[in-house]
Parts: sequence; C-alpha cells; structure tokens
Amino acid sequence: MNRGRVYDDERLAGAYQSGNEMPEESLRDWTELIGSFAGRPAPSVVEVGAGTGMFCSAMARWLRPSRVVGVDASEAMLRQARRFNSHPGVHYLAGTAEAVPTGSGLFDLALLSRVVHHVPDRRRAARELARVLRPEGAVVIRTTFRERLDALVYDYWPRLRELDERRFPSEAEVLEDFAGAGFTVRTVTSFARPVTATLGEYHARMVARPQSKFTQLTAAEFQEGLARLEAAAHAEAEASPAAVVERYDVAVLASAA
Ligand SMILES: C[S@@+](CC[C@H](N)C(=O)[O-])C[C@H]1O[C@@H](n2cnc3c(N)ncnc32)[C@H](O)[C@@H]1O
Repeated sequence: MNRGRVYDDERLAGAYQSGNEMPEESLRDWTELIGSFAGRPAPSVVEVGAGTGMFCSAMARWLRPSRVVGVDASEAMLRQARRFNSHPGVHYLAGTAEAVPTGSGLFDLALLSRVVHHVPDRRRAARELARVLRPEGAVVIRTTFRERLDALVYDYWPRLRELDERRFPSEAEVLEDFAGAGFTVRTVTSFARPVTATLGEYHARMVARPQSKFTQLTAAEFQEGLARLEAAAHAEAEASPAAVVERYDVAVLASAA
C-alpha cells in the first residue's frame, strides 16, 4: 500500500470519524473561516480528500453553497462519508487530487484538509485544481507544514515527529508547486480550535489509532506512547482539566484570472 492509499484500510476508515470529530462550535468556526475565502455568496465548493465528509456536510449546513462535491481516493472513506455525513446538498465521488472527476471551471472554492501530504503528485494536483476552479477561484490548504509540526501526539510519540518530517511538505514546497500551476498566494495563516474538552477524552479517542500517522509505528511503540498519554491524562484530571487545542496552517491560493 503506498502512502497515498493508507486510507483504503477498512479499520482506519472505520476509526477515522469518531477519532477526528470536533465540537460543533469548533467545526463551525473552521467552516466559516474556510468559507470566508470563497469570494462570493452561494459558492460552489469541492473538497478533495474529503475523507469521512466532516467538512462537506459542515459546509453544506453553514455556507449556503450552491453545491458541495466531496472527492476521495478511498472507497472505504467514502462509505463512511455517506454513512455519517450524508446531506442532500453534498455529492461524494471517487477520484483523486490528480484526476478530479468533474468538469472544468465549476468551483469557487477547493478545500484540501489534512491531505496535501498524502498526494503523490502535487504538481499534477495543482494543475487539476486550476482546471476545476473558475478563474480567480480559491484553494484552501489546511495542513501542518513540515517546519511547524506541533500536533500533541508528538509529545507522547516523539518518533512520529521524525517520521512526519519526512512525509509532510514545507510551506515553500507547496507554494512552489501551486505557483507552477498559475496560483498566487492570498494568505498563509494559522488557526486553532479545541478538539476535545480534556486530555482524558483525547486519550480515549487515540486508543483506536484514528490517524494514518500511527501506521508508521510498531504495536509496541504505539502502546508505549498511549501509556504516556494515559498517565498524563490521569495527572491532569487530578489537577486542572483543560481542552486540547489543535492548530493548523491555512494557505489560501488564487487561481489565475
Ligand atoms: C487525513 S484524511 C482527511 C479527511 C478530511 N479532509 C479531514 O480533514 O478530516 C486524508 C484523506 O485523503 C484521501 N487521499 C489520500 N490521497 C489522496 C489523493 N491523491 N487524492 C484524493 N484523496 C486522497 C484519503 O483517502 C483520506 O480520506
């Protein structure tokens, strides 16, 4: 299984939705931020690497879009999307970032959330996004660039940081690949919102290994990190429980006029 196809795994696909949900308020804040880059009311939106469809249904609910299309390379993830995040305004399609299964010039906004590091041919994906967007449409890339890897999991599984330093592209690499397809940078910013109310809740969701990064570890390495996280969660519960916040980089690029 190559690194782009790790989500073909039924176990991971089944664990993804519950292991990556956000509180409603956080999801809404994220969705409104993403929607603010669409540049017009009732935008048409495509999410590439839509996964279990968390953002597709959120955009359909809160952005008043004219259409939402969710594209993913994994049939297993699309099955979860149709199960957990079906919405009359959302169409889920099998396809890849390098071959988006839609016509040209259709979308005001393209979202790539937590997917850019999985895409084997980023330059080709950038050309595809330029094709499916209308002139001056926006691509929103929600990721953590290599130089700012700061997920909480690295505190408990330090080897993951080294491994992810080899997987995740830098900001400069991504911007260069998109510039090659005629995109210009509108902004690169950073946004953070709570994902769980306590570290105990965070630990409970990590038990199911709900992210592809854990496939890089042995079973023993995973269990050791999980025990460290559980100990920290117990200590925190006795002191002062605090929300776990996740931060992402957000790069917004405009296609050519
Ligand atoms: C970490 S999940 C992100 C899901 C969702 N966007 C989110 O933010 O929760 C990454 C998704 O990208 C998909 N994916 C990986 N490589 C892809 C590619 N080349 N084209 C389209 N989807 C891809 C995977 O199947 C998986 O569903």
